[in-house]
Amino acid sequence: MKRFFAPSGPLRGTLRAPGDKSLSHRAALLGAMSADPVRVTGYLDAADTRSSLNAVRACGALVEEGGEPGSLTIRGPGLRNAIPADIDVGNAGTLMRLLPAWLAGQPGGAWTFDGDESIRRRPVDRVAAPLRAMGARIDAREDRFAPFTVHGGPLRGTEYELPVASAQVKSCVLLAGLLAEGTTTVVEPEPSRDHTERLLARAGVQISRAGGRISVTCQDELELGALHVPGDPSSAAFHIAAAVLVRGSRIVIADMNANWTRTGFIRIAERMGAVVIGDLEPVRMGEIPTEEPVCELDVAAGPLVGTVVEAGEVPLAIDELPLVALLGCFAEGETVVRGAAELRVKETDRIATVVDGLRGLGADIEATPDGFVVRGDGGLRGGTIASHGDHRLAMLGAVAGLASREGVEVDGMEAADVSYPGFERDLATLTA
Ligand code: S3P
Repeated sequence: MKRFFAPSGPLRGTLRAPGDKSLSHRAALLGAMSADPVRVTGYLDAADTRSSLNAVRACGALVEEGGEPGSLTIRGPGLRNAIPADIDVGNAGTLMRLLPAWLAGQPGGAWTFDGDESIRRRPVDRVAAPLRAMGARIDAREDRFAPFTVHGGPLRGTEYELPVASAQVKSCVLLAGLLAEGTTTVVEPEPSRDHTERLLARAGVQISRAGGRISVTCQDELELGALHVPGDPSSAAFHIAAAVLVRGSRIVIADMNANWTRTGFIRIAERMGAVVIGDLEPVRMGEIPTEEPVCELDVAAGPLVGTVVEAGEVPLAIDELPLVALLGCFAEGETVVRGAAELRVKETDRIATVVDGLRGLGADIEATPDGFVVRGDGGLRGGTIASHGDHRLAMLGAVAGLASREGVEVDGMEAADVSYPGFERDLATLTA
């Protein structure tokens, strides 16, 4: 599906971004692992998070939808009663990396995972390695890709040092730790999103964090209670970027997740000159909170200057780095992102697709092995960009169009449905 996004006048208005995708996946999984029913509000209704609901259904959970949009009740089979099944993860990398953890610890069962063409190119050895170290048996195509089968068995606690700061891998090890004998510890090189830790703390799990070491112990059951999923900062980031780029804009993002491990992009945009007012959670290491903080964000455009994003900041803005490249096109001077080789194993190789895509719109941008360098020259001409089936690339193209001189045609706009089905409608309310 092709869509044209014309240069826009100022964006104005208030918007609630759709439910947080990371939290919605975790709500589905932990809901299914809980003994008691878990009522969820604000759940993201998108292709990726529907895959998670279908996956937990296949494993024996009852999911009651209906009533208010985003409201559902999950009645799990509980921590140790998943039913053997074939799991279709669709396009959802988070589901593919987290769900095996729960299943690996259940003796007697086998679960086969598969997904779409993009998911078959994304590595699962990063979770298979720690799970195997805990005693799991996983058979994967070429030892590292879907389709793969998880054979449940007894697990033992381990200490696992993450080779890259990945919240998915960290979460996988922690969830497996709930079913493993003894204590399981993950050591992260840099902080990454900590939703799993917060939810586990909320569910009554003994979990501790100190100096990059996070430990959990074996559990009998989880008691999660009711959960509200606030708006997704990664989805809001597209509207924020549009408001930052189109002069005269002023928008408010309501009910947004303000968790500091998710708001790296907002801090980067502020550093570049964006005017953002909001109660973002301050950086907080150490004790794990049981809540996700929520904020209202007031955003206005401002003249931008280039910036450097180093490795430590990358996990806190990983999904928004394509937008940093876009802001860089409009900034004075150079914008550099380093230490972000992980972008190469996202829904697409996002270093290649973002660099090629923005260059096609007139950007002066170069790929490096672990990031990119953009030389801002006051804007973007416009043209055509292909989404390559990547939701974030499709939305990047739309925002680029609004801020460009000639407009942008996005080829493959339907990809946005993976995380944000109402994206075009929401953007239209701000540009009307
Ligand atoms: C996610 C973690 C990130 C992110 C992905 C969602 C999560 O991946 O890119 O969109 O929900 O844990 P990595 O943990 O692999 O960096």
